[in-house]
Amino acid sequence: MLTPSHPLLDLNTFHMDVKAKWFAAFSSEEELRTLLADKRVAEESLLVLGGGSNILFTEDFDGVVLKNNIKGIHIVKETTDRISIEVGGGENWHQLVLHAVNMGWAGIENLSLIPGSVGACPIQNIGAYGVEVKDVIHTVTALDIHTGTSRQFTNSECQFGYRDSIFKREEKGKWVITKVEFTLRKNATLNTTYGAIKDTLDKMGISFPTIRDVSQTVISIRQSKLPDPAQIGNAGSFFKNPEISKSQFLSLKDLYPSIISYPIDETKVKIPAGWLIEKAGWKGKSFGTYGVHKDQALVLVNYGHAAGEDIKKLSQDIKHSIWEIFGIQLEIEVNII
Ligand code: EPU
Repeated sequence: MLTPSHPLLDLNTFHMDVKAKWFAAFSSEEELRTLLADKRVAEESLLVLGGGSNILFTEDFDGVVLKNNIKGIHIVKETTDRISIEVGGGENWHQLVLHAVNMGWAGIENLSLIPGSVGACPIQNIGAYGVEVKDVIHTVTALDIHTGTSRQFTNSECQFGYRDSIFKREEKGKWVITKVEFTLRKNATLNTTYGAIKDTLDKMGISFPTIRDVSQTVISIRQSKLPDPAQIGNAGSFFKNPEISKSQFLSLKDLYPSIISYPIDETKVKIPAGWLIEKAGWKGKSFGTYGVHKDQALVLVNYGHAAGEDIKKLSQDIKHSIWEIFGIQLEIEVNII
């Protein structure tokens, strides 16, 4: 049922105190279909919310907000070394990771503690510590917003890229993701190549880590440098890490010998936006109610009662400064509404 003038404060991790003109939550595809057939939903602008962890509201939403509450984790196929599970889009991502860790299913432990929902994870292909969710997604089931018909997208049809998928491009705003099928491994092949994981495991004296060890290591690394959205409003990385040409990188390296880079191929490298933002002097800068996080410059924070417009303006100032200093165009990762 649609409720008018609904507060969104507890439904976005930036803690923006805004309202939706209309709001409803759905717990099944049938409920979603009924809502999509409602005249108000058809006529107004529509926003589908998952965990609200990748969004910055700058004003009240003048339309309909639908919240995905479809739950359930079901085994669809099992072999001696693989398990396929179908998960409702309204499940909390980290709870799914903990469930997989408890069951001994490997593949998503590096993605521990990422805020957000299962239904949102394919949209921006969440990733951390050397793993992206595209590595374990088998299919994504989604409902057509205009016709209410259900369709499956295979992994390749999702056209995943770095923090990117078809749902952010050609198919943007056309689908509601209802379920995701993942294929996980029962015999763990752990990915501990990411520097910080290896260093932390070494410090703890763990040479043969379990799935749980990796998950707990990732949790402790994240807790040491990323603000907990329950305490300080934020939406994780505000910007993507930019890709630049190798020749631009070499010129920058002459100027800034300490620059950090990750090779992509023969011609391109990725630069951590956090390094650029820190080098430009923004790290830890506070403007009263909002600012740049002190331990990870990629994260913009709401210390309490900040206006979304102020954080948007800060992100534009940062973009401008990175362009002026380094000649690099930063791209915003968070959805600004
Ligand atoms: N760095 C700085 N200053 C900073 C932040 C980072 O110099 O303020 C340097 C670090 O010292 C390190 C490098 O940049 O050498 C990379 O930092 P980090 O490992 O923290 O990762 P990141 O590239 O800044 C990306 C993801 C994160 C993810 C981590 C770990 C993006 C946009 N962000 O950050 O994802 O947790 O890698 O894999 O790709 C998110 O999407 O919300 C998110 C937090």
